[in-house]
Amino acid sequence: MLRMLVTGGAGFIGANFVQYTVRHHAEYRVRVLDALTYAGDRVTLRSVADQIEFIEGDICDRGLVDRLVAEADVVVHFAAESHVDNSLHDPEPFIRSNVLGTYSLLEAVRRHGGRFHHISTDEVFGDLPLDAVEKFTEDTPYDPSSPYSASKASSDMLVRAWVRSFGVAATLSNCANNYGPYQHVEKFIPRQITNVLVGERPKLYGTGENIREWTHVDDHNAAVHLILTKDRIGETYLIGSGDERTNREILDLILELMDQDPDAYDHVPDRPGHDLRYASDTTKIRTELGWKPVYGDFRAGLAATIAWYRNNEWWWKPQKDSVEAKYKLLGR
Ligand code: NAD
Ligand code: TYD
Repeated sequence: MLRMLVTGGAGFIGANFVQYTVRHHAEYRVRVLDALTYAGDRVTLRSVADQIEFIEGDICDRGLVDRLVAEADVVVHFAAESHVDNSLHDPEPFIRSNVLGTYSLLEAVRRHGGRFHHISTDEVFGDLPLDAVEKFTEDTPYDPSSPYSASKASSDMLVRAWVRSFGVAATLSNCANNYGPYQHVEKFIPRQITNVLVGERPKLYGTGENIREWTHVDDHNAAVHLILTKDRIGETYLIGSGDERTNREILDLILELMDQDPDAYDHVPDRPGHDLRYASDTTKIRTELGWKPVYGDFRAGLAATIAWYRNNEWWWKPQKDSVEAKYKLLGR
């Protein structure tokens, strides 16, 4: 059995990763380290609670991190502050958790050895024009726009430096926007679905022409497992479904799938510095590792996600009021 430490395993992608690992990868004994910020909840791991060990703690706690890393063969690092709008309002937690937290993990891996995989985002590359065909590749220079993406870019740079200077056995992946069950209701897709469910009008930033490449969370996590099986130390892989859509298209589809009037939404003021388009060329992971998304049909994936939020109000309802109160303060 390999001992796996998953940071941020009570958040959206991390919890799906833990569930996926327990279901599909019996070779790992999983331990989760999570600070249970506003974005993390132990109930998300309820279905696998008996099969994992959960430790409530902060990745910036050097002593705790040192002990847990010493006891792990593999560390998969999801823990981060993850929401762009929050980073525009208060960047400090992003610098602390994303930069200093990653530093504290890297130092522990440097002392104790073991395999490290760093989860990152395509947002580190900045954005692309709306009307271009060009895509990000693993060689695109970093050009982050928001405090969130700048903090993730910083953490990626630290990982690369620790590989080169100290021989840390790390890999990195930069994934496009994820969707699926257990995503916090502050994010675009769950916010709109749950707005409809509580009788609020969905909110579209600016013109709604911004483009994201939506990737199912299980496809992201399958890619991470594939990277872990190959020891291509120091390598970076872009992950993305290739399915690019404007925010307006996504909202139209949500309204259609939820039997709402197509005009039943509000335009709200745009996000400052709003990135226009993200799109990744994922040739490397597809050809080198043979990864390809299983959730090829976005409409079906979105319908399943809507059904999940409909059937799991107990999970998201406690987050909803405080999130909408926060958006009200931001005017969005
Ligand atoms: P999330 O906000 O849903 O979850 C983050 C988790 O990390 C929470 O459980 C939180 O409690 C925990 N956490 C935060 N700070 C911590 C700290 N200092 N110590 C310990 N735990 C801490 O985020 P997510 O959407 O699941 O994103 C997970 C990772 O994937 C992040 O690194 C993010 O940058 C990256 N990513 C996200 C997306 C996306 O679309 N959501 C896309 C690509 C990459
Ligand atoms: P988000 O889920 O915050 O992800 P990111 O900004 O990291 O890509 O937002 C996805 C897109 O949706 C982004 O272009 C901003 C837009 N958006 C809205 O139009 N309305 C909303 O209520 C939210 C939360 C986001």
